[in-house]
Amino acid sequence: MISVNNISLQYGKRILFDEVNIKFTQGNCYGVIGANGAGKSTFLKILSGEIAANSGQVVLDPGKRMAVLKQNHFEYDEETAIHTVMRGHHELWAIMQEKDALYAKADFSEADGIRTSELEERFAEMDGWNAEPDAAALLSGLGIVESDHYRLMKDLNGNQKVRVLLAQALFGNPDVLILDEPT
Ligand SMILES: Nc1ncnc2c1ncn2[C@@H]1O[C@H](COP(=O)(O)OP(=O)(O)O)[C@@H](O)[C@H]1O
Ligand SMILES: [Mg+2]
Repeated sequence: MISVNNISLQYGKRILFDEVNIKFTQGNCYGVIGANGAGKSTFLKILSGEIAANSGQVVLDPGKRMAVLKQNHFEYDEETAIHTVMRGHHELWAIMQEKDALYAKADFSEADGIRTSELEERFAEMDGWNAEPDAAALLSGLGIVESDHYRLMKDLNGNQKVRVLLAQALFGNPDVLILDEPT
């Protein structure tokens, strides 16, 4: 499912990875162990594409989607809990934003109409109409009560934020889920 090919990375003189090759196959759960500072978090960031290695490549099987449990609890301060969850599916979220912007236009052109129908088709393929109820079900399942779903992230406590970010990572059934020291 994920192939890591000849990954090398060094920071200054410190060589973290030297021609690393490894395959992660579907259906398995892998743990990365090593001393503090060994490079575990850096390796996961390379896998998710958050940082680039000096050389080599990471290949995710075509059509597979990866999700990452975010550790920055302040990244979504101005967003509601439920929208934070939905943002976990980047493509779906981007389509929803573009659609909303098009429908809000005063001078909706013929080209806009064509673009909108493309977006609506892709949205339906991704089960977009169920996105909000799915996100709500995940939040409720993780113990976030309904009255908190539309509150801003900055108004939730630390424990609730972690749950929202976990729901975000799980949203839309990703094929690959990356967790770096989840508490
Ligand atoms: N952006 C960076 N620039 C320079 N050194 C870094 C950077 N990020 C991490 N490091 C160093 O790389 C090493 C591995 O860090 P990290 O991946 O966080 O380790 P782990 O998660 O295994 O504790 C550490 O020595 C850290 O100081
Ligand atoms: Mg780490």
